[in-house]
Amino acid sequence: MPSELSPIDKAKFVSAKRAAQLVETGMRVGLGTGSTAAWLVRCLGEMVRDDGLRIKGVPTSTRTAELARDVGIEVISLDEAKWLDITIDGADEFDGQLNLIKGGGGALLQEKIVATASDQMVVIADVGKEVETLGAFPLPIEVIPFGWQTTQALVEETLVSMDVLGRESSLRMNGAVPFVTDEGNHIIDLHLKRIGNARQLSLVLNQMPGVVENGLFIDICDRVIIGFGDGKVEVRDINEGTVEKGQLDFVESDNLFADLSD
Ligand code: 5RP
Repeated sequence: MPSELSPIDKAKFVSAKRAAQLVETGMRVGLGTGSTAAWLVRCLGEMVRDDGLRIKGVPTSTRTAELARDVGIEVISLDEAKWLDITIDGADEFDGQLNLIKGGGGALLQEKIVATASDQMVVIADVGKEVETLGAFPLPIEVIPFGWQTTQALVEETLVSMDVLGRESSLRMNGAVPFVTDEGNHIIDLHLKRIGNARQLSLVLNQMPGVVENGLFIDICDRVIIGFGDGKVEVRDINEGTVEKGQLDFVESDNLFADLSD
């Protein structure tokens, strides 16, 4: 295991490495966004280069598209793929039912569209992402720029009748300017602390004009692969009700660990 990586990065890496073993030649693969998903893309790139793996990747952000092309994965659009065999992506939080908060990287809209258009969604995460109840991580919602402050005020007002602990929200910034998503929208982060009824909240948020999508992924994830800093991995399958524990042996690869910026 590369000694210069932090335990969290090692955990992210082993979860990604284990997930890459699920990918077979001929598959159309949704490629997530974020630092854990970047490990996956690197692992798949290595398999394309060294093992002759042939896949078509559908990225969930311009960042991931760029990385996928860099490592030699054939990139196609979702409309070209039409349907995917598997999507593998990170998460900001997951609970015991494998419901998720996503969007910390600002790509939740494409991520949800791609995951929903897949036979299976596999989440890769370090063990620190597991929670009993969703909500400690701020819930991102993607809003159109027109009237975003009015949308924000309406969302805050609506939260009064929801089963949440906090009701503050903040516009996500990129330095001095508002963060802009790949679709040209903004992100408002909802600091809810605890979400009592995630399914209801997701439906209510998505009914509000100006809200394009929210970062709650309910009944979308099929499996989570949890990585630990010592190389252990745990695969939980919510449909089968199975838990598989293992340990990854791997050697440092110069190609894989060079220039990882995401
Ligand atoms: C991006 C996401 C990411 O999957 C999520 O933020 C986790 O990121 P990381 O793997 O860097 O911890 O939802 O929109």
